[in-house]
Amino acid sequence: MRIILDTDPGLDDAMTFVLASVLTDIVGITTVAGNVSLENATKNALALVSSLDMDCPVVSGAHINLSGDSPNAAHIHGVDGLGGIRLPAHKRLASGSDVTEFLLRSSREVNHLWIVSIGPLTNIALAIERDKDFANRIAGISMMGGSSTHGNVTSVAEFNVWADPEAADIVLNSGATIKMSGLNLTHQLKSSDSWLRGLPDTKKSNMFRNFARALHDTLETLTGQREAALHDPCALLALTHPSLFTFQSRRVDVELSGKHTRGMTIVESRPSRAQDTGNVLVGYELETNAVLQLIGSSL
Ligand code: BDR
Ligand code: CA
Repeated sequence: MRIILDTDPGLDDAMTFVLASVLTDIVGITTVAGNVSLENATKNALALVSSLDMDCPVVSGAHINLSGDSPNAAHIHGVDGLGGIRLPAHKRLASGSDVTEFLLRSSREVNHLWIVSIGPLTNIALAIERDKDFANRIAGISMMGGSSTHGNVTSVAEFNVWADPEAADIVLNSGATIKMSGLNLTHQLKSSDSWLRGLPDTKKSNMFRNFARALHDTLETLTGQREAALHDPCALLALTHPSLFTFQSRRVDVELSGKHTRGMTIVESRPSRAQDTGNVLVGYELETNAVLQLIGSSL
């Protein structure tokens, strides 16, 4: 499967790089400000593709969201984005500077291209705004973002949508096929220290384990529990292994103006409207043990 990974690494983004390097054919990595500044996101992406021996371009994208702000999640991922983990020195450089052009060109040149979006949706919204046919040319967008239940930044808003609600609104209404792995789904896939100990002893597995442990360390101080929902890997695995996930078509809207609800994804779930045509395939369930095993066997 050929993908572009649009990302703001980020510890769970970094885990997704590891999985993507073995499960997909990566056309390119596009970076976006989100968990960390664009500069750090791109720096991390370059270090990751080098460490994982990935042969694909890294294109630096939007440094601010569509409202001109640059929120971050340094309290979860660290100021550097990788929880202080230092990857080996390398000589990779970012390719080009026009992320929109890269996305549009790839959509023309690559058949059945999926975008795996695991950060704020700014880059993808900019591509849609520049060329409305982009959404129809790609196979679809598998995004980590939103929720059909609670949020994480606020009680109702999930980080990636909250960090650029206008972009999410553009993407969800673009007509593209969209698979949404929201918090209601990703909280069904959690790493624990005991599961990590059982992963194989390979270079890629050890990288994955280190990123997960750094997340456990932070979450332990914040929540008292050494476990982490594997948010971003879900968006990748829902695409590569769809039989392990249940998605249903639903109407989803993004709240842009609510005082308490900006960034919320409103998923139509009234039984009487269940048959309405949806704009999004919403992830509801995954087979937890099978997906955890899949990760172990991939590494
Ligand atoms: C999302 O927010 C980020 O902090 C994670 O990398 C993930 O993409 C989870 O809400
Ligand atoms: Ca992310």
